[in-house]
Amino acid sequence: MNMNKIIIHGERPLTGKITVSGAKNSIVALMPASILADEPVVLEGVPDILDVHALINILQIMGAKIHFAKGVLTIDPRGVKSIPMPSGKINSLRASYYFMGALLGKFGKAVVGLPGGCNLGPRPIDLHIKGFEALGADVFGDEDVMRLRTKATGLVASRVFMDMVSVGATINIMLAAVKAKGTTVIENAAREPEIIDVATLLNNMGAKVYGVGTNEIRIDGVNELHGTRHFIIPDRIEAGTYLAIAAAVGKGVTVNNVLYEHLESYISKLEEMGVQMTIREDSITVHPGRDLKMVNVKTYPYPGFATDLQQPITPLLLKAYGRGELIDTIYERRIGHISELKRMGANIKIAGNRIVMASSNELVGTEVVASDLRAGASLIVAGLMAKGVTTIHNVEFILRGYDRIIEKLTNLGADIALVDTNSISMEKVKIEERG
Ligand code: UD1
Repeated sequence: MNMNKIIIHGERPLTGKITVSGAKNSIVALMPASILADEPVVLEGVPDILDVHALINILQIMGAKIHFAKGVLTIDPRGVKSIPMPSGKINSLRASYYFMGALLGKFGKAVVGLPGGCNLGPRPIDLHIKGFEALGADVFGDEDVMRLRTKATGLVASRVFMDMVSVGATINIMLAAVKAKGTTVIENAAREPEIIDVATLLNNMGAKVYGVGTNEIRIDGVNELHGTRHFIIPDRIEAGTYLAIAAAVGKGVTVNNVLYEHLESYISKLEEMGVQMTIREDSITVHPGRDLKMVNVKTYPYPGFATDLQQPITPLLLKAYGRGELIDTIYERRIGHISELKRMGANIKIAGNRIVMASSNELVGTEVVASDLRAGASLIVAGLMAKGVTTIHNVEFILRGYDRIIEKLTNLGADIALVDTNSISMEKVKIEERG
């Protein structure tokens, strides 16, 4: 059993600057995308998170040479082979499914274990499969492994209509289509900034991807992709988490490396609540709080309010005056934080597909469990607000996606510590990779 935990002594006033790292949801796609190149790819601004280390491990097993130090990750894909990647190797993170598109695009075949990652209820991959099949691949799935293979003609471009807006399926189809013969069109494509980031990398490798950021993406297939350098966009979810913390317990906190245009819907919600901010080109200062007003939140695909920020903003909402509702239209079962917040004294309940909140008395620290990545982030926000000591278990979820979160929050004056009784420290993993 894993014994790592995060211990927070709450109610400390936070001040100073905190810098956002490269986007988790970009890097988990950029790394598989890099194997499409015939030469080394250098990724800069790479966050030091467990998902990155898991992907490094998978890439090394496939035959890639990796160097990772100080946020710069070099992937030399020249030795990569399309070896079967069963679920045991891959099920720790959901984004491993990008190897389906990347291996199919590169080799015309792939055997990839079905994805793990955060448990947010059913997370089907039917749209990914529909896309691969439209490009001419045969896809066979059994319990936990997908087998994909192209016919003798290789991948052939096609028109793919997404029944639902899906980040993962849009990226996966893009990865497979960049080397397909002809012009692929993805309709009803997702528009998240991370999709633009992946397309920018692919285009810098010599791909011809047009229209990303709109709901129709066109891809002219090319024969070869070359090496390149790419700087990853800032993590808008990490930024949103720190903005929530700054609004909840800040006495003047500046969040650096934030792109306002990636967070417009979120920031307008904070403004609606009465959070006072100064917004600059790549930083936002949150001023010490006045009384906050409760608001309703409904999540939507980008540019709507991100489902990934629903959980981190919940404790802040509990601080606001009045009653409010939160509806997650993307993941209805994204509610793992609710029971834990309740145990901390929150006035919150689930009613059908709605999370109903009313201003809480002070939250009180206790033992809580992170059920997934963003639920974990939510508990960190709550722990920093709460009276007394909050102990968070299952913290691997948090370390999957938040780069050096303990260090960053400590620098702001938080009393937060990672107690690593299991000694599976990331340091050890890092030394092995560099060595
Ligand atoms: C990505 C993000 C995740 C975020 C989510 C929604 C990564 C690594 N993860 O996940 O942090 O919460 O977008 O913004 O980038 N769906 C189907 N069939 C499919 C695929 C998806 O029905 O084949 C449904 C899902 O169940 C969900 C909705 O479509 O209700 C959106 O999911 P999707 O955008 O695909 O999420 P992910 O790419 O898995």
